[in-house]
Amino acid sequence: MSETQLQVIILAAGKGTRMYSSKPKVLHELAGKPLVQHVVDCARALNAESISLVYGHGGEEVKKTLSDETLIWCEQKEQLGTGHAVQQAMDSISDSANVLILYGDVPLLSKDTLEQLLQAKGEQSIALLTANLENPVGYGRIVRNSENNETAESQLDWPIERIVEEKDASGLIKQIKEINSGVMVVNGDKLKQWLAKIDNNNAQGEYYLTDLIELAVKEGERVNSYIVFDNKEIEGINNKIQLADLEREYQKRQAIQLMTQGVTLKDPQRFDLRGELEVGQDVIIDINVIIEGQCKIGNNTQIGANTILKNVIIGDNVEILENCILEKSQVGNKCCIGPFARLRPETQLEEKVKVGNFVEIKKSHIEKASKVNHLSYIGDTEMGENVNIGAGTITCNYDGAYKHVTKIGDNAFIGSNTALVAPIEIGHGATIGAGSTLNKNAKEEKLTFSRAPQKMINGWKRPTKNKT
Ligand code: UD1
Ligand code: CA
Repeated sequence: MSETQLQVIILAAGKGTRMYSSKPKVLHELAGKPLVQHVVDCARALNAESISLVYGHGGEEVKKTLSDETLIWCEQKEQLGTGHAVQQAMDSISDSANVLILYGDVPLLSKDTLEQLLQAKGEQSIALLTANLENPVGYGRIVRNSENNETAESQLDWPIERIVEEKDASGLIKQIKEINSGVMVVNGDKLKQWLAKIDNNNAQGEYYLTDLIELAVKEGERVNSYIVFDNKEIEGINNKIQLADLEREYQKRQAIQLMTQGVTLKDPQRFDLRGELEVGQDVIIDINVIIEGQCKIGNNTQIGANTILKNVIIGDNVEILENCILEKSQVGNKCCIGPFARLRPETQLEEKVKVGNFVEIKKSHIEKASKVNHLSYIGDTEMGENVNIGAGTITCNYDGAYKHVTKIGDNAFIGSNTALVAPIEIGHGATIGAGSTLNKNAKEEKLTFSRAPQKMINGWKRPTKNKT
């Protein structure tokens, strides 16, 4: 590829009326990431020298959400057409650059396709990304010149003459199936010259970027093109139906990539990755699992149905059963979690820890082979090895104002339905009788309990209903 520097302009000034939302269109999310962020990330992947973002409505919100200091923000106060929009970004464009024009609402365009387009441009001044559509309605049509080109192998080798917008098209032109994706690369100097010449003398009264083509041809330039292989890549989003459709498309691609790496997805159509996932070998993921942020899953690990993983690191041979929610936590090798367990941020489980149903753990470190099997809350706790936490045990970590720490030594046994009022320390090997409420430390290796003595009442009878 040529050494010419690449500058990217992203058009994102559209109102997005058909989203029926107070949020700017390009901030709606695809796979948990704003639409325009997908486009910015793609531009970055191409090593763009600069990225200019043409914004209009809700610009402040877009700036705040992207919070990217290297972006060049160009306001388009009035939307007078795509040509006018590109003009707003001209200040930072250098004459010698390749200028790539992208769209903030076209999120699936790949780096590969754009590299092909740049290659197709070669040493020419301009190249277009086009597509062949079964149903081209609504798009600008690519008009090619057949004159003196009868020998060409395919009509697609005929030189491009101009682009005609649907609203300006005659019946004959409407039959053309090759369409303009809107994406193009143009030499900086030529782009400036041609933009200065376009007018708004058309059906929509707009400054059409597409008029560049005719200007180029008039100057004897050859307009090159690359036909996109996968039409989904050039689809834009105007409403929630298209948003949902491209979300599934995107998820399908991610699922295929993971399966290609060897991951078993029980149903790729019921899998959602909203972020990045690093996986080991022989990972099995059941249906309706949602993975968010940055996650890592080790070898031979299984993730049960309806589980949500958000920014977690999970080791090897781990079993996460159904309906668990894990966030910002680390799970060691051979742990078993769930069903119906919740790990909240800053939870760290070492090897072979068991966390059973209806257990919530927050900001706690649990060492090797300890078990919290049923109905417990463990918060702000440092727990040693081989501890057994009985069903219904609660660490009372909050006094209404401050959080306090619970420490539980190795081999401790906490009887069921115990309340440990923090700050508190349970010595190693200590046994706590079921039903205790402890607010003082428990000595190592001793039995401690605070249970009321059991009573028997003589002569008591259960009330009965009068039979009438
Ligand atoms: C444009 C192309 C058409 C192509 C189609 C592909 C023109 C004249 N036509 O038509 O050939 O087939 O895209 O989808 O370029 N925008 C601005 N400021 C403006 C106008 C538009 O930022 O003043 C942005 C919009 O936010 C949108 C994009 O540019 O993301 C395309 O604008 P739109 O008006 O939808 O163009 P189309 O009519 O679809
Ligand atoms: Ca459009």
